[in-house]
Amino acid sequence: MMFLWNGRLVQENEIQVSYLDRGYYFGDGIYEVFRIYNGRLFEEQAHLSRLFKSLREIRITLPWSESELSGMLNSLADTFGEKDGILYLQITRGAAKRSHLFPASAEPVMLGYCEEVARPVEQLKQGITAITLDDERWNKCHIKSLNLLANTLARQEAEDAGAQEAILIRDGRVTECTASNVMIVKKGVILTHPNGPLILDGITKQVVERLAKQSGIPYRTTGFTLEELMEADEVFVTSTTKEVMPVTMINGIKVCSGIPGVITQLLQQGFEQKIG
Ligand code: PDD
Repeated sequence: MMFLWNGRLVQENEIQVSYLDRGYYFGDGIYEVFRIYNGRLFEEQAHLSRLFKSLREIRITLPWSESELSGMLNSLADTFGEKDGILYLQITRGAAKRSHLFPASAEPVMLGYCEEVARPVEQLKQGITAITLDDERWNKCHIKSLNLLANTLARQEAEDAGAQEAILIRDGRVTECTASNVMIVKKGVILTHPNGPLILDGITKQVVERLAKQSGIPYRTTGFTLEELMEADEVFVTSTTKEVMPVTMINGIKVCSGIPGVITQLLQQGFEQKIG
């Protein structure tokens, strides 16, 4: 297995993470999860744009351009073979004596690798269950930051309650989930939270928006409340690994009749065509 380490393809034993790396102390870095279908990066450009946006937001400058990085990622994906998986990439501000201030001279540290991840075929048919929790994260959720403590705590709380995802609520309104965006369908209209600092602008969400527009399904980013979530005709979450995933039960209560809805299934078919 090969790794992308500071711009070079290397074996695992060549990776050396300093004990002073700021990712380790402060979570001072950002990441991306790219999907690989049959050996090829899916929606690569959208992920790259978001990665560079996250870097700008936390004031890290890479020594490579977007197209140079793209070349490296594709070389890494080539070593993975024609399988389904993910490419995980993270960049930290680098290693420097511990101080809250940005170091004067640290070089960013980049690590990437591929991992086999199968499509969740069975769950896509059956749907998943979720619970609702308060959104206790910060006000810059549009940055794909390595700081995921609030997300991991909420995800574990969902797991402990026997659910697969936690839907997060801020001031009575639904934002997103611990590692996915969330949408509802009400009277044939898809509703989701507007982009901005309270959610991550998911790449899968962008694909769904395009699919909805192509299929003539109304798509609104006006957001929705917890009450509207509980009274929705359909609920689904979207992410790089979950794709268009139906949610069939929330807080132990069935979503409508408790089976994946028709618009969700239509979007799933459209999504499959894109990756096929
Ligand atoms: N998570 N919202 C949050 C908080 C996320 O962490 C993710 C993705 C999404 C969906 O984004 P996308 O469609 O671009 O994957 C929304 C990734 C998969 C992760 O952390 O593993």
